[in-house]
Amino acid sequence: MERLSTSNLKLGIIAGGQLGKMLIQEASKWDIVSFVLDDDEDCPAGSLANHFVKGSRFDFDSVYEFGKLVDVLTFEIESINIEALQKLKSEGVKIIPDPDILGLIQDKGLQKEFYSKNDIPTARYILSDSDNDIKKALGRGEISFPFVQKLRKGGYDGRGVAVIDNEAGLDSLLEGPSIIEEKISISKEIAVIVARNAHGDVQSFPVVEMIFDPRANLVDNLICPAAITPGLSEKATKIAAQAVTQLDMVGLLAVELFIDDQDRIYLNEIAPRPHNSGHHTIESMITSQYEQHLRAILDLPLGSTKLKMPAVMVNILGEEGYSGPVLYEGLKDIMAIEGVKIHLYGKKITRPYRKMGHVTIISDTLEESINKAEAVQNLIKVKSWKKS
Ligand SMILES: Nc1ncnc2c1ncn2[C@@H]1O[C@H](COP(=O)(O)OP(=O)(O)O)[C@@H](O)[C@H]1O
Ligand SMILES: [Mg+2]
Repeated sequence: MERLSTSNLKLGIIAGGQLGKMLIQEASKWDIVSFVLDDDEDCPAGSLANHFVKGSRFDFDSVYEFGKLVDVLTFEIESINIEALQKLKSEGVKIIPDPDILGLIQDKGLQKEFYSKNDIPTARYILSDSDNDIKKALGRGEISFPFVQKLRKGGYDGRGVAVIDNEAGLDSLLEGPSIIEEKISISKEIAVIVARNAHGDVQSFPVVEMIFDPRANLVDNLICPAAITPGLSEKATKIAAQAVTQLDMVGLLAVELFIDDQDRIYLNEIAPRPHNSGHHTIESMITSQYEQHLRAILDLPLGSTKLKMPAVMVNILGEEGYSGPVLYEGLKDIMAIEGVKIHLYGKKITRPYRKMGHVTIISDTLEESINKAEAVQNLIKVKSWKKS
């Protein structure tokens, strides 16, 4: 990317959430000119972007006009108007990752077909268009309880996913085209972030282990490196590299996997962008996921993914019972702990379980990071003077 050295490369990012914010923070180090499209001027990346453009990522004209302003267009979220991206691509705008890959990933059904076609291990599934289809498949014995239903489009953070354990659970089936998957006896959920540039170079970050908050179905905290055997870690890394290579994509790919109680690995889902499971890389790795994404999309040499220090990442989520202007409690107390790094996203309004920020804790040993993370979780509270 020759323009990089002239300091006027215009990078467009669709959506201005926290991932966009952290991407801009890296881009500014290389004097890249950032443009952000979002319908909310108070979004986390809004005040940081060199150019903020107000508009909806779902709207054809907004996305199309935005794409015309920049040299390279990327995104920090999957749900975007694809038709506008396709038109921009046909007119020669550089969009990375490619809109075709985004189209595949927007649809969990197409994702699953991609895994099956490419011999990537994944939970067994069928596609269904309605709850009638599901009941018929049950009748024919094609699926059995317990199973997991996922809407093909639009789900995130557990929304659009239903676990159906028995006949009575059929009342909570979701409406719309979906995939029906066998329920895996999960022993651990892990993630591998992998990057690929246009030269086909691939570089993986160490495996992370995700620990979920069962109430919110959100990743509560995450440890790196994952406490798994080197053999499993190698397998997971291979699957991630296989996925990014077989997709023939450029950019960052976050790969979520399950390990079951027999130590079998399944690929669950992928996201073609920086990911929540890679926040810790800012402090714990030689290269952060955001820098790596930039290196990949600008076809630069990929950076080292060596771990500097074992890390735990704790999400800062809105407390239950508060909805309104945000007030943070305990920031000073956690700042006093060595190795605690706070990231506040700048969201003005808190809601129960809203992702308001995160804390990365780095120490010489994982055990020490885990202990400090527990203290952090007990000290930090996201409240508001307004109760809900
Ligand atoms: N086949 C499955 N078996 C058991 N649990 C599952 C299965 N699929 C998903 N889950 C659980 O539901 C969570 C959300 O599902 P996921 O496919 O990752 O959707 P989302 O897009 O909401 O992240 C997973 O992290 C996992 O805890
Ligand atoms: Mg997921």
